[in-house]
Amino acid sequence: MKGIILAGGRGTRLYPVTLAVSKHLLPIYDKPMIYYPLSTLMLAGIREILLISDPDSLPLYQKLLGDGSQWGISLSYAVQEAPRGVADALRVGASFVGDDSVALILGDNIFYGSRLGRQLERCINPDGAIIFAYRVQDPRPYGVVVFDQAGNPVDLVEKPREPISYYAIPGLYFYDRRAISFAQEIQPSGRGELEITDVNRKYLEIGKLHVEILPRGTAWLDAGTFDTLLRASQFVQVLEERQGLRIGCVEEVAFRKGFITREQLLELASQYQNSPYGAYLRQIAQEKAE
Ligand code: DAU
Repeated sequence: MKGIILAGGRGTRLYPVTLAVSKHLLPIYDKPMIYYPLSTLMLAGIREILLISDPDSLPLYQKLLGDGSQWGISLSYAVQEAPRGVADALRVGASFVGDDSVALILGDNIFYGSRLGRQLERCINPDGAIIFAYRVQDPRPYGVVVFDQAGNPVDLVEKPREPISYYAIPGLYFYDRRAISFAQEIQPSGRGELEITDVNRKYLEIGKLHVEILPRGTAWLDAGTFDTLLRASQFVQVLEERQGLRIGCVEEVAFRKGFITREQLLELASQYQNSPYGAYLRQIAQEKAE
């Protein structure tokens, strides 16, 4: 299964911060935002990943992440010329995906929770689509899913005016190969975007949409506004400080998944010189060795 990270867009809600810097390069506490969705795909076991961003930002991601070989994965890059919508990622990434299945994650979505890795591993190569539902206080900024009495999904609505469902759909989608042709078929919405909700609706229409409710112990955060950006940093800081374990640490995930060896991890740690991040990587390598 291939993976796509969508990390373009203008980030207008964060102006002036994002006038000169791509949103997904901003820090969430102690690491760039993009590390979180990247490590989520890696946790699912996905090693062939395409990062899509705007023309100005793409070289910066290449500088930060390279070709992925240092983490035992393969990273490639593609330009989205204009922010035409989330589903446009499936058009831009069509040749990269080919006839394979694909997981799409949004660059500003952060997931954290026990057993999340195992849950995501089970979503690899689905028959149809697997998306998630997460209860939120205010569903209006999101795509939402409406369930019937039996708990089956019956409707999907992008940014509902009225709170018709408290179940928002997080920006992580597992698709079979049909997604690419569905993305070609849809038309821009009223707000002028190719909506991922319309791709998901295609799967609903053919009876192939599986919706998994994320348990309440799972954290799903997005970081598109000043408040959510700050809250995400605070969340990560509180947990990391308490546990001494890092969230979204790509090197650690690569090591624990067996994508890189202990020696490679120590080599990566040395590049960070005397930063606490480097010290953490050395500690992880040490603990696993004991
Ligand atoms: O966060 C989950 C939500 O993401 C879903 O519940 C919605 O169904 C989905 O439409 C999307 O809604 P948003 O309004 O939050 O999407 P936003 O425009 O903020 O873009 C999400 C990310 O994708 C963001 O990091 C920027 C990037 N992006 C977005 C667009 C529209 C691009 O790289 N290119 C684009 O064309």
